[in-house]
Amino acid sequence: MSEWSSTEYAAERDHTDALREFRDEFHLPVDADGQPVVYFAGHSLGLQPKSTAGLIQEELDDWSRRGVLGHESARRPWVRYHEELTAYAAELVGAEPHEVVNMNSLTVNLHLMMVSFYRPTAERHRILIERGAFPSDRYAVESQIRFHGFDPADALIELAPRAGEDLLRPQDIEAAIDRASHSLALVLLPGVQYLTGQVFDLGAIAPSAHRAGALVGFDLAHAIGNLELSLHASGADFAVWCAYKYLNAGPGALAGAFVHERHADSFDLPRFAGWWGHDKATRFLMGPEFRPIPGAEGWQLSNPPILAAAPLLASLEIFHRARIPRLRAKSLELTGYLARLVEARLGPRVRIVTPLEAPARGSQLSLRIADGAAIGRRVFQDLQSAGAICDWREPDLIRVAPAPLYNNYTEVLRFVDLLHRAVTQGAVRS
Ligand SMILES: Cc1ncc(COP(=O)(O)O)c(C=O)c1O
Repeated sequence: MSEWSSTEYAAERDHTDALREFRDEFHLPVDADGQPVVYFAGHSLGLQPKSTAGLIQEELDDWSRRGVLGHESARRPWVRYHEELTAYAAELVGAEPHEVVNMNSLTVNLHLMMVSFYRPTAERHRILIERGAFPSDRYAVESQIRFHGFDPADALIELAPRAGEDLLRPQDIEAAIDRASHSLALVLLPGVQYLTGQVFDLGAIAPSAHRAGALVGFDLAHAIGNLELSLHASGADFAVWCAYKYLNAGPGALAGAFVHERHADSFDLPRFAGWWGHDKATRFLMGPEFRPIPGAEGWQLSNPPILAAAPLLASLEIFHRARIPRLRAKSLELTGYLARLVEARLGPRVRIVTPLEAPARGSQLSLRIADGAAIGRRVFQDLQSAGAICDWREPDLIRVAPAPLYNNYTEVLRFVDLLHRAVTQGAVRS
């Protein structure tokens, strides 16, 4: 085997990668000169599978040929189309099919879930989130608190890392839940923190929330398609996710939700209803009384957008073939290789904020340039100009995620070369 930081080594790893053929199933972006870029932004918007266009075209064709009859007689009848997605999505999140539904977008689903699972009382009305929560989650939570007549200044508990630290310590999460237990209604945390890339232990958080007498939901935007998840076993009450990041289902893709089977028949839960959540056997009798479908499908509102469901089907079918345990194993290796190279070549000048132990990280590394945010921003811009696509998050983080479905070791090596150049040229210039 060649020296681990050499191009020969990276090429050998690519050659022996059991998942290498999946790369050919994606459109790989190029720069203005037609040269391939290093695309490490799958944590933000995943790449387009080549199968996507064909699946959308199939529906356009069936719509043009069959019109309304396509609901029953399209090659994939539209009335049942979303059910084709369910088993794949359930496999990916570690749930039973009746616990999963693909619908709406993430924030919409979060609201629908909170309508049912945030039921505050005078004594128990608080929601625990993290201070670094994605803004949409915070807005949704605050608006739900206000909707119920409470004040976020009192009802919102924000969990922050200790002073001088970037990451939340698991024991601090546990302690915060314990401390609030008399007044806690809901715990809402991410599967992977979007800024730092830190993985949260769902299987530990859910039972502690329950012990405290609260319900618990997870935002899996950065976890689905990235980690091996066991949502059912975690005991979470609900979870929501989007499908445009690691799932590669396209900008604004159809999202998903999980409702634990213990709530499948809880028809007395408050919920916002729509006809697509109504019992399938009697839906078209168009009766006035709403009878929810047992399980997650009972939270559906509208008939699903088929042209948006097709890219999700394309994506989930690829994950089904690639298998998430194999993807996770490659991801740990590939991102581990990135971390090793950054540490060896850029040592103290670039700090990896993401925890490096395997269970505590996914594909993403969040990098902080030691010379400060202004230099960090310039390094990020140099990377973009040199054809390395990642992203910048205020105040000072460069987020980088090699995706195991379509990225490889040679790209990791090239990325670190470009990063090295950007950082050291900065030293010469400044
Ligand atoms: C962690 C997290 N939560 C929520 C959202 C909001 O998603 P949407 O716009 O699909 O509702 C995002 C979007 O990137 C996200 O990263």
